[in-house]
This record gives sequence, C-alpha cells and structure tokens, in this order.
Amino acid sequence: MLGQMKSEYAPEEQVFYPDLSFSTRANVRDARIYDWAGMDYENYWAEEAKKLHWYQPWNKILEWQSPFAQWFVGGKLNACVNCVDRHLNSWYRNKAAIIFEGEPGDQVVLTYQDLHREVSKFANVLRGLGVAKGDVVTIYMPMIPEAVIAMLACARIGAPHSLVFGGFSAEALRDRIQDAEAKVVVTTDGSWRRGKSIPLKQNVDNALVSCPSVEKVVVVRRTGCDIYMEPNRDVFYHELMKEAPLTCEPEVMDAEDTLFILYTSGTTGKPKGIVHTTGGYLTGVTSTHRNLFDLKEDDIYWCTADIGWITGHSYIVYGPLANGATVFIYEGAPDYPERDRFWELIEKYRVSIFYTAPTAIRLFMKWGESYPQSRDLSSLRLLGSVGEPINPEAWLWYHKHIGGERCPIVDTWWQTETGSVMVAPLPGLTPTKPGSATMSLPGIAADVVNELGEPVKAGESGYLVIKKPWPSMLRTIYKDPQRYVDQYWSRFEGMYFTGDGARRDKDGYIWVLGRVDDVINVSGHRIGTAEVESALVEHPAVAEAAVIGRSHELKGQAVSAFVTLREGIAWAPELEKDLKSYVAKKIGGLARPEEIICTWELPKTRSGKIMRRLLKDIAEGRTLGDTSTLADASVINQLIRQMEA
Ligand code: PRX
Repeated sequence: MLGQMKSEYAPEEQVFYPDLSFSTRANVRDARIYDWAGMDYENYWAEEAKKLHWYQPWNKILEWQSPFAQWFVGGKLNACVNCVDRHLNSWYRNKAAIIFEGEPGDQVVLTYQDLHREVSKFANVLRGLGVAKGDVVTIYMPMIPEAVIAMLACARIGAPHSLVFGGFSAEALRDRIQDAEAKVVVTTDGSWRRGKSIPLKQNVDNALVSCPSVEKVVVVRRTGCDIYMEPNRDVFYHELMKEAPLTCEPEVMDAEDTLFILYTSGTTGKPKGIVHTTGGYLTGVTSTHRNLFDLKEDDIYWCTADIGWITGHSYIVYGPLANGATVFIYEGAPDYPERDRFWELIEKYRVSIFYTAPTAIRLFMKWGESYPQSRDLSSLRLLGSVGEPINPEAWLWYHKHIGGERCPIVDTWWQTETGSVMVAPLPGLTPTKPGSATMSLPGIAADVVNELGEPVKAGESGYLVIKKPWPSMLRTIYKDPQRYVDQYWSRFEGMYFTGDGARRDKDGYIWVLGRVDDVINVSGHRIGTAEVESALVEHPAVAEAAVIGRSHELKGQAVSAFVTLREGIAWAPELEKDLKSYVAKKIGGLARPEEIICTWELPKTRSGKIMRRLLKDIAEGRTLGDTSTLADASVINQLIRQMEA
C-alpha cells in the first residue's frame, strides 16, 4: 500500500510514498538518475536516444545556438520505422499495437504486423497522390485507427503531418490548412459523438473553398453519413487501399527533419504552428513514456486525450508505439451510452495504465463513485493526469475511487511546445503530493523564477521556466522564427518561458498555478483570449470585446466575455445566444463563452488598455485589485451591479 503520512494535514501537505512492491519492480528505481542526468544532460539524452533505431549515428549530441537547438546532429532515422518495423523482429510482431473500440461498440485489433501493413499501404497511397518528403498533410479525423495509420504513414514518407482536432470549426481548419499550405487532407465522412454523426467532411468542404494548396482529400468512411465528393479532388480511403502495395520503403530522415506541425493558441489571434523534429522528439517521448508510466510488456495502456492534441501525438502514438506498447483507443464520450463507459472499458480490456485530464476526473467526481464502484478496476496499476493543475480533492478522489489507493498518480506538466513531459514524479521513486507535479524529470532543468529571473525561495511563487535545451523542444514556430524568439526566449535571458506561474514549496516541489498570459485553459484545452475576441468583434452587433478565463468548478477555467455593442443595437438574451454560437462556429465548440456580459464601456486604463485583470476579479466575484489606473471608475461600478443583478 502507498504510505500516507500526516493525514491530519491539509491535502497539499499529504505525502504519498511509492509502494515498495511497485518501486522494486519499477523501470526507474535508482534515485541517482537525477544526479547523473543533472551532471551531464547531453549524455543522459544521448543514452536515451541510443535505445531507438538509427540508420546512422549522430556526430554531435547538441548544437545550441540559443535559442535554436539541433539535437543528434547528423543522425538519421525514421519515426515510423521506430514505432512499427522495429517490433517485427521479435514476438511483438504478433502483439496488439492498437486495440480500438468505437462509440457504437465496434472493435478493431491491429497487431504490430497489421499496423506495419496498413501504414505501408497508406504511405504508398499518399505517395501515389503526389505527396513527397516535406509536403504537409493535414489530418482532421476522429479517434479511429486510421488516424494513427495516417500519422505514421506521413512519418514513413517524411511528410510532416498537421493534425487539426475534430472539434475545430471549418474556419479554424481553413486557417491551419492555409498556414501549413497542406497538399493533402485526410478526413472522415463524419465522427460519432453521443450517437450523432458530426459532419467532418462537410467542414473540410467549407474550409477548402479558400485553400488553393490542397490537391487531394482522402475520405475514410466512418459513420456512413451523406457526403459530397468533389470530382478529381476527393477519393475514398478504402478504394485506394484496395490497390496499394503492402510494403513501402521508408524515407531516411535527418534527426532535425520536421516530423510534424501542431497548431496551438498563443497570446495573439493567430494560432502558432509548433514545429517538432524527428530525432529529439522521438527520444523525448519514448524515454518519458517508458519511465513515467513504468511501461511493461503486458500493459494495456489508455490515454484518453484526443489524437488532435499534443498528448495524443506524444502519448497515444509516438511514445507508446516506439516502446512497443499495446495502446487502447476509444472514440467516444465518457457518458455515452452511460456514465460508466470508461470504467466499463477498463474492466472489459483490463486496462492497466490510465492517463486522463483533471477536468474529466472532476466530472467523474460529480457523477459519483457508484459508477466506478460498479466495475472491476483491479487491472489498473498506474494513473496519470495531464492538461491543467489537478486540485488536491480531485487527486485524492482519483487515488481512492479509481486507483483503489494502490496506484501511483503521475501528474505530468508539459506543453505542446515541450513535446514531452517536463515536470512529473517518477512513479517508483518520487513521493507525491496531491496537486503538485513534483519536480523536473532527469535531464530537464525546470525552475521557478522571479521577475528578474532569479530562483524563488521556498514558499514563493514566480514563473515556470526551463533553463537548458531538451531534445523534444519545439524548434521554431512554423514560418515565424521571430515569434519563436519573442514568445519563449525574450522574457528571461537564456531561459525558455513557459507562460505558466508556479510556486515552490519547502521541499522544492513545483506547484503549477496556471497561465500568466492571455491563454485560457478550458478543460485542458488551450484557447487564446485574442482568438475569441477577434471572433466576437467580427459579429455585426459587437463593437468591442474583452475575453478572460474565469475559474470554473468542472472545466478548470471557462471563457467569459465582455462586449460593448454597436450604436442602435439592443442587448437581448437571443443576442447572447447568437454570439455564443457565432464563436463556436468561428473557432469550435470548445471556445464557446460560458457567459457574455454586455456593458456600455470596457474598463480601460487612461492609455486605452483594457484591464482584463479587473474583469477577471469581477467574473470571479473577488475584491477588486488596484483600480487607480482606470480611466473611468463608474464603468466598474456598473459592471459589478450588473453581475450582482
Ligand atoms: O498551463 C499549463 C497546462 O497546460 C498548458 C499547456 O497546454 P497544451 O500545450 O495544450 O498542452 C496540454 C497537454 C500537455 C500548460 O502551459 N498544463 C498542462 N499540464 C499541466 C498543466 N498545468 C498544471 N499541471 C499539469 N500537469
């Protein structure tokens, strides 16, 4: 049993020690790993990289021309070969690589041999459509095996993929296709969500009205819904796959060749294309996946993220498959058809490692423990958390009701930009505290610093930074290297600035507090306030908009919008509804504001800057911070009266 110390303390003071029976068998059980990696982080990572298959070794581990890094310089490898072909020389050939269950209950099992065949065929299909090394392929798909096949097929032929989460709107998809200048789009007719078919292909059609770079669209049949097929452009996956040859020669890629681009929200209205390369990224995700989840040969591993986010890339596809894991993939929602769907699946497939987000855990808490209690969850041996700070209550509930008080909880802090986990406990070594992601992983130099870039003292808060380059770090922002420099490397000299605030406790543990910039984290999904603001001001009724993230019991944060209207427009409940749908249409359902508050003026400084901090205080019902710089204090008084009404 995990030892619980000082239970009379507040949850955040509780310490859980790794259970001896776990730690004696753990993949990482020698605490000196931190010292070794700390003394020589380059060689630490080189040793990790050697566990991959390389066609040609590197001649230099790291070329660091701050802030531009190259890892494993001169090394040659292929990510797909590492995730698939490499496992064919052992009994893993017959091991399940992917176990899939669709929302309607359909199942697919692909062994590594099967995966190799399907990926090779689709790689040939892509080549047949004219995709060559360096061409970008946009993938807009639900959580089905073909999405993984498409990603790996791209990796096989050296075509960077750009996944767009299936919940994004046609316009958001268009922006991402345009920025990446994708040549091919892979999609499905629709995707299942709570029994309904969501029209993905239709969104692609709408997006492609203004995407001249796209030559072909490959459509996987999933829900069977009616779709339009554009002649000479749209082709069915199953038809192309029928004819495709079974083997496909992989491209020999340079360690620094781009593996993928993934768009994420930043502080401006325009999403950033985060660029990840092959050798360093694969090293980071493979090593951390093996160590953090203590992966064993017979584990059934389930990460509930969507493949369209970085968590899906790193910890559903590249990390687990490079490690030869059996990955369980589920297409649907946790409450369809019943609220015990996830627990039913864990019971049915004997899932042993489960990785999900705090927002989901809070939802499960709200639904009550009777759902997990009605299922056999004894196969679980390790739990993970990602995407946002986990509150101690949720941590303790997860530990008790899902983990049966026996599973270590690995809270993983990282970002799209970091590629792999940076701050987290090693489950066989690190005592955990509910709500803290604990400390930097070996080979990672995360720290909490003050405004001047000096480490904060115990008990103090500051900014989370990373002080040394790491293999899976983003290399740049697609087509915008200056933004890469400005955004991440300009705030503190020689340090990567994460955009997060954090506190260091007396034991040196890091407690991530959340974003300190204009990024909102809604249910673990990143949304830029500027993106929502620009969607709102495009609406003919809106003159000005200010958007903030306010705390929300389930979602962590919710989008809260304040608007002023154009002359002659009257505020009405229908308009609020209309504006919410407008944002959802422009960006996607995840950005839909929780509430929209209409005001005659936004609180501004005398120089005209909107004071979002005050709006946040108002939305969260707090005593207002400093209001002395306000141009017109009556604005605030009226807003408060409005909120109270
Ligand atoms: O604010 C942090 C939060 O999510 C942000 C990164 O979002 P994204 O790039 O979409 O990647 C999410 C999945 C890796 C971070 O800047 N975040 C992520 N994980 C945690 C977290 N905050 C606290 N604790 C975490 N474990």
